[in-house]
Amino acid sequence: MTAGKLGLTELASWKALKTNFEKVKNDHLRELFSMEADRGGRLAVEAEGIYFDYSKQRITDETMQLLLALAQESGLKAKIEAMFRGDKINLTENRSVLHTALRVPKGKAVMLEGKDIMPEVHAVLDKMAGFAEKIRKGEWQGYTGKVIKNVVNIGIGGSDLGPVMAYEALKNYTKRGLLFRFVSNVDDTDFAEATQDLNAEETLFIISSKTFTTLETMTNAHTARAWVLKTLKDTQAVAKHFVAVSTNAVEVSKFGIDTANMFGFWDWVGGRYSMTSAIGLSNMIAFGPENFRAMLDGFHQMDEHFRNVAFEKNIPVLMGLLGIWNTSFFGAETLAVLPYEQYLKRFPAYLQQLTMESNGKQVTITGDRVDYQTGAIYWGEPGTNGQHSFYQMVHQGTKLIPCDFIAFTKALNPIGRHHDILAANVFAQAEALAFGKTAQEVKMDGAPDTLVAHKTFEGNKPSSMILMDKLTPNALGKLIALYEHCVFTQAAVWQINAFDQWGVQLGKVLADKIIPELESQEAPVLKHDSSTNTLIKRYRKLK
Ligand code: F6P
Repeated sequence: MTAGKLGLTELASWKALKTNFEKVKNDHLRELFSMEADRGGRLAVEAEGIYFDYSKQRITDETMQLLLALAQESGLKAKIEAMFRGDKINLTENRSVLHTALRVPKGKAVMLEGKDIMPEVHAVLDKMAGFAEKIRKGEWQGYTGKVIKNVVNIGIGGSDLGPVMAYEALKNYTKRGLLFRFVSNVDDTDFAEATQDLNAEETLFIISSKTFTTLETMTNAHTARAWVLKTLKDTQAVAKHFVAVSTNAVEVSKFGIDTANMFGFWDWVGGRYSMTSAIGLSNMIAFGPENFRAMLDGFHQMDEHFRNVAFEKNIPVLMGLLGIWNTSFFGAETLAVLPYEQYLKRFPAYLQQLTMESNGKQVTITGDRVDYQTGAIYWGEPGTNGQHSFYQMVHQGTKLIPCDFIAFTKALNPIGRHHDILAANVFAQAEALAFGKTAQEVKMDGAPDTLVAHKTFEGNKPSSMILMDKLTPNALGKLIALYEHCVFTQAAVWQINAFDQWGVQLGKVLADKIIPELESQEAPVLKHDSSTNTLIKRYRKLK
């Protein structure tokens, strides 16, 4: 451990939490609720249009006090300030982390190295808005004069998951005459299926890549270029059918896209934190500049909440600390994110990159191996579908699977009783997980002795409920920022860097080496392990 700094497990609050854990680990939520009549209302916070109920987590008041003390002892407040101030907190890449600046409203300054960066941020947003309106109004025509009807975003990771998630989440607010597709995978099928029914004359490609060097994106971008030119047969057409979103103007112009049609952002925006930058261009075209700005406002409101509100009322801080409790103390390996809102069907996939690329780390920020569990595996499906699939294991399996339920009091497409049935299910699931059903209750229901064990629910499965009014652009912004800052809180306590992703490098390097070995005419000299060598030989023979 680096001299002068205490490791996490040496902190007084961590040690006290260890003791507290031994004391409370067998407490049952049934008992806690029956002893504390006000628990459901007391262990809940309402702010920024979010009602966050964490009373069904396996905590006592003492646990919460100690978790809050852990946040203090970890220097969370100072770390939050360092991020907002633009300090180079991404130490391994020597970068500032200022995605929060992307949603600061006009009229406020954000200084970075003595310069206000907001004029540039707003200039890009305004340029995006101008372009989006041209597409939406049919004023941007393709090379043959036809109006653009299809927009295809090509990108991967943060250059795909945010836009596709937000597109699906806010579909209700989109311009329906325009068709949106998202191509991310280098698998030929992704591109082929996304374009098989499109007319190149009416199609715009947005090539979204922070670096503009990512293998998958550049392969798909070149395929798109060839696909357009196959119909339009003139390289002049590229300017009308391709725009780029990137930080790398040199590579953009090498590809043949006029940099006038490039929407920039900055190295202080991490890929998985970039959906409020120009990476959101396809979203702005889909649901319009006004809704995009409303979404940014939602992000900003949650940013301000995270920065300014006392930790005991600070929703992302509380969520982050509860995640640490479940992961590092209870040893829960995963967290199920269960949105009871069909429009959020891609939200768990988006969160996987946000949380797991950020906090899937085994060394501290100073490079020391951690001796505690860090980031959980995030996964999930929208309710109620999951109830007829994996919930069985959450209720009666041998693993502890904490859940985040996300629900809304209003439907976007109200039809008869649907929404009440949906809401009843989310509340019922949280209740069933927490309280279960005892063997005695099962017997009282008349179950035969042979079935009692099978029909018993142990309960005591922790969950949180995020209850909001309606899925609006503003609400979506708040929800995403909530998880961003939850990730930050956890990284701050776990003493890890949430903003680098060295773990994706090795596979990329090895793939680059194997590609020519698969493609060369001559049999290559293979110097991999015996398994990889055999696989390559077999592929070459059979392809
Ligand atoms: O998976 C690694 C990664 O660098 C992500 O962090 C990033 O979102 C993704 O690749 C795409 O990168 P780019 O936008 O530079 O193409």
